[in-house]
Amino acid sequence: MTSLESPTASDTPGTVAPRDFPIRRGCPFAAPAEYAALRTDDPVARVTLPTRREAWVVTRYDDVRELLSDPRASADIRRPGFPALGEGEQEAGARFRPFIRTDAPEHTRYRRMLLPAFTVRRVRAMRPAVQARVDEILDGMLDAGGPVDFVTAYANAVSTSVICELLGIPRHDLEFFRDVTRISGSRNSTAEQVSEALGGLFGLLAGLVAERREEPRDDLISKLVTDHLVPGHVTTDQLLSTLGITINAGRETTTSMIALSTLLLLDRPELLAELRKDPALMPAAVDELLRVLSVADSIPLRVAAEDIELSGRTVPADDGVIALLAGANHDPEQFDDPERVDFRRTDNHHVAFGYGVHQCIGQHLARLELEVALETLVRRVPTLRLAGERDQVVVKHDSATFGLEELMVTW
Ligand code: HEM
Repeated sequence: MTSLESPTASDTPGTVAPRDFPIRRGCPFAAPAEYAALRTDDPVARVTLPTRREAWVVTRYDDVRELLSDPRASADIRRPGFPALGEGEQEAGARFRPFIRTDAPEHTRYRRMLLPAFTVRRVRAMRPAVQARVDEILDGMLDAGGPVDFVTAYANAVSTSVICELLGIPRHDLEFFRDVTRISGSRNSTAEQVSEALGGLFGLLAGLVAERREEPRDDLISKLVTDHLVPGHVTTDQLLSTLGITINAGRETTTSMIALSTLLLLDRPELLAELRKDPALMPAAVDELLRVLSVADSIPLRVAAEDIELSGRTVPADDGVIALLAGANHDPEQFDDPERVDFRRTDNHHVAFGYGVHQCIGQHLARLELEVALETLVRRVPTLRLAGERDQVVVKHDSATFGLEELMVTW
């Protein structure tokens, strides 16, 4: 579907066929071009999901923030109208119930359990360890020699190692975690495939939980076991599901951001030069890259528990509704010249980490990883360049998180 003429939320569904969703990006560094027309002409638009179910998508900044802070917008994946993008996610999500897909009070309980590990103070203290890990991974990549796939050798290695270290997962095959997310996050996976992939992850975590119960260490798994599992506040299955979603949510998003940001900087040497000249720009640059790239565009999935009005239209109770973060982050009503990548942008109140009660719990850690990963690369590998043609870069279109499958580089 390319036409933007679809029924409004108050029309009778079925008179005009809803457009297919997700809508592909043309440029990897921008929202799909159709989002601009949706924001203007059809801000609460009816779509058909890959599961062939119908739902609504919301593209305006104000509507996205309103929806995500509305307690009537439920994140409970067990509700029949939940707009999962794949059958596998819908079925496995309803079975394993990761807390990102639950509502208060259940959601609040798990979120509170994790929060102390992700405060600004805690994350700041992790900087030396993150820097050491990033340097080690970069040494490995440089020693191996180019050309290499940057997604595997750097982006995935950094994001996976950092989360494993925080949780206390011994250095394992990094590709194992990538495969788990690749399968569980793909909208083409069946419920069996998702369950099998998550089953493998839970098996690994269950072994560690049992070990830490016997012999706690200084890591997050031990802390959660000691403070929450042993006193009986959570069951082992609930703990495994919480650990599993923390790994999955934290890995792929950060991998995508490191890889796409690097590609953008290679495409735009003037931006790279700006960062080289003024490294103090890095924190603001990271936030601008988060806004522009909006890799978690269609992660915030909700169901209307009651009728919800947005931009004068009604999302009826029990219908699925998706808050499109790239739509909000490129809304010219909120961001001056939103397609411009501006590392000196002020008032950059983007929603790349979502908004409201489910807003990303790992956002401080994600910012730290991005700052260290990009700063180290810019400083230590000034000759980094693409190996091969620009159009050979492999973009990932079938996953919950937008990103790159492969990025061949050399130096
Ligand atoms: C650049 C990287 C990241 C991006 C763009 C991102 C984006 C998001 C977004 C948009 C949400 C909200 C989903 C919703 O409203 O339904 C979210 C939630 C979440 N994120 Fe992140 N994330 C990133 C990194 C991380 C990291 C590093 C971790 C942990 C180590 C993490 C863990 C989580 C968890 C556990 C949730 C669920 C929170 C809840 O439901 O209360 N994320 N993330």
